[in-house]
Amino acid sequence: MATVISNKKVAEGVGLLEVESSLGGKPGQFYMLRAWDKYPLLSRPISIFDAGEDRIQFLYQVVGEGTRRFFELRSGDQLQIEGPFGNGFPEANGSVALVGGGIGIAPLYYMAKTIKNADIYLGFSREPYLTEEFQRVSNQLHIQVGGTVLDQINFRDYKTVIACGPHGMLKAVQSMQEEIGVPNHVYVSLENRMACGIGACLVCSVKCKDGRKKACTDGPVFPVEEVVFND
Ligand SMILES: Cc1cc2nc3c(=O)[nH]c(=O)nc-3n(C[C@H](O)[C@H](O)[C@H](O)COP(=O)(O)OP(=O)(O)OC[C@H]3O[C@@H](n4cnc5c(N)ncnc54)[C@H](O)[C@@H]3O)c2cc1C
Ligand code: FES
Repeated sequence: MATVISNKKVAEGVGLLEVESSLGGKPGQFYMLRAWDKYPLLSRPISIFDAGEDRIQFLYQVVGEGTRRFFELRSGDQLQIEGPFGNGFPEANGSVALVGGGIGIAPLYYMAKTIKNADIYLGFSREPYLTEEFQRVSNQLHIQVGGTVLDQINFRDYKTVIACGPHGMLKAVQSMQEEIGVPNHVYVSLENRMACGIGACLVCSVKCKDGRKKACTDGPVFPVEEVVFND
């Protein structure tokens, strides 16, 4: 069990939860969180927003019962956190772009803080949030409100591009990479539904060009050219 240090509303329906924990983790990894006993049945996968020696932060959007329960947590409350899980982001050298759409911005802050020289592209459908925090850890910060943040980025400018966001955005990232056809490295972090988080149930199965993989243990980060996106 972990103790809640704070749980702040950072935008409408978006919370930043900080818990006491020394479990740590790499940028791009995630935890399975549970702030209840029996119902809902499954824990919820949430990426590491930031981690230190004795604390972890999670940025989450309220979409259903589980995340609504996270929003109700107060300082001193207990919740179960299991992890860190998943492969995390690859090492990124040279020019790096981090691209986030919606709550897909969540895993990018820790990555930016770790590598220090990334250009960050954040897309929001409404009021932007945590922009000062992202500004502090970025080389250049680009913000888009409405439309698609992909309009602002030229893949040719970067050796590595890492994207996290809704399915449609990640599919568009793959199309852009195919159109450009340059040998840079483009990775996507997938948010498939998960049940166990440890490779045992196959709920998170991802169709890849060389067969099916598990988002929880083989991912959630994949080279974009490996993934077969559904329409
Ligand atoms: C590896 C990974 C990292 C993630 N990181 C974050 C994060 O940092 N911040 C954040 O806000 N969200 C993140 N998500 C999405 C988050 O897990 C879901 O929004 C959340 O599980 C919804 O739970 P709910 O009970 O509120 O919604 P409900 O719709 O009631 O959930 C019903 C079921 O569907 C699953 N589910 C619903 N939406 C999603 C979704 N988009 N992705 C995966 N499973 C879903 C739930 O886990 C649950 O099992 C991540 C997902 C994955 C797979
Ligand atoms: S969530 Fe169970 S195998 Fe991935």
